[in-house]
Amino acid sequence: MTDKKDILALIEKAETTHELTKDEIVALLIDTEYEAEFFAAADRVRRMYVGDEVHLRGLIEFSNTCKQNCLYCGLRRDNKKVNRYRLGPETILDFATKAKSYGYRTVVLQSGEDEWFDVAAMVDIIKKIKELGLAITLSVGEKPREVYQAYRDAGADRYLLRIETTDKALYEKLDPGMSWDNRVKCLQDIKELGFELGTGSLVGIPGQTIESLADDVLFFKSMDADMIGVGPFIPNPDTPLAGEAGGTFELSTKVMAMTRLLLPDINIPATTAMESLNPQGRVLALQRGANVVMPNVTEGEYRQLYLLYPGKICINDTPAHCRSCITGKIQGIGRKVAETHGFRVKRA
Ligand code: SAM
Ligand code: SF4
Ligand code: FES
Repeated sequence: MTDKKDILALIEKAETTHELTKDEIVALLIDTEYEAEFFAAADRVRRMYVGDEVHLRGLIEFSNTCKQNCLYCGLRRDNKKVNRYRLGPETILDFATKAKSYGYRTVVLQSGEDEWFDVAAMVDIIKKIKELGLAITLSVGEKPREVYQAYRDAGADRYLLRIETTDKALYEKLDPGMSWDNRVKCLQDIKELGFELGTGSLVGIPGQTIESLADDVLFFKSMDADMIGVGPFIPNPDTPLAGEAGGTFELSTKVMAMTRLLLPDINIPATTAMESLNPQGRVLALQRGANVVMPNVTEGEYRQLYLLYPGKICINDTPAHCRSCITGKIQGIGRKVAETHGFRVKRA
């Protein structure tokens, strides 16, 4: 399955049927000769199914406190070098109000798994932000079903919880104390409760194979996910994975483009981690299948303290600067900033 005719036939099959076997996905992910054709096919599918508009979601990183200990993450509880913070509800609401004033239609509330924000506190924050007319995406980790239910009842629209890897043994090695089966159960609960479901993978974690990345994409399809965030693993010097190689920009965008080909109508962000590895990373990702960007709307020193990995972009910039910067980049490639809430429209 490696000669020219076969690879081009596989790209055409992916583009026209949106179905590939695991072996076929692997063949395309390892091919380096026809990457340009592969990315062009993902870009055509993006345009055909979700159009030229780019949805902006304003990201509020409201707490860097975490009870978990994921080996790859700078916020892990054993990282004593982190200066921990949590934003009060009024500050979160203030940042959401400003996000609205910059023209964002969605805010993403992201944090470590921080028990200080109990159900009542989160429900109150969600309700107040909903009064602004914004869509809300939550990215706050694993919770019991009844907690997800309470968030949903309060008005949260979407939930992001990356599976990180579908290799169960690898997941449980890198996320000590956590259970892969429970993570899948959380994703199922989120889906059943009527959230738009977001998941995704970390590309390049030590021990991951191309076969397991192919499994990841098939998993996204089996879950009928509405949003998929794929990003490179970037080693953090203050974690046990400090000396590891990390993921590459190219492979991350290949997994992302494959996701667009097989789940043609979903929302796919050009991730911050991609641009942290490549100065043109988000624009390139938007030309390889992505249709969403999540600019940071957190203000002040907090941006620097939410340091998952080194080299994170925008940590010294203001929300206003990021808004005009990303708008310029989007318009610079002939695309347009969307003015709708940007929910998935099922077409496939
Ligand atoms: N605590 C929540 C969770 O884990 O789902 C949400 C916040 S967590 C910081 C968001 C994502 O950051 C994770 O799903 C993980 O994929 C990503 N991440 C963590 N450490 C990273 C690293 N070193 N390089 C790239 N991405 C990383
Ligand atoms: Fe905590 Fe999420 Fe980082 Fe894991 S990835 S340590 S759960 S913030
Ligand atoms: Fe933050 Fe460009 S998006 S500086």
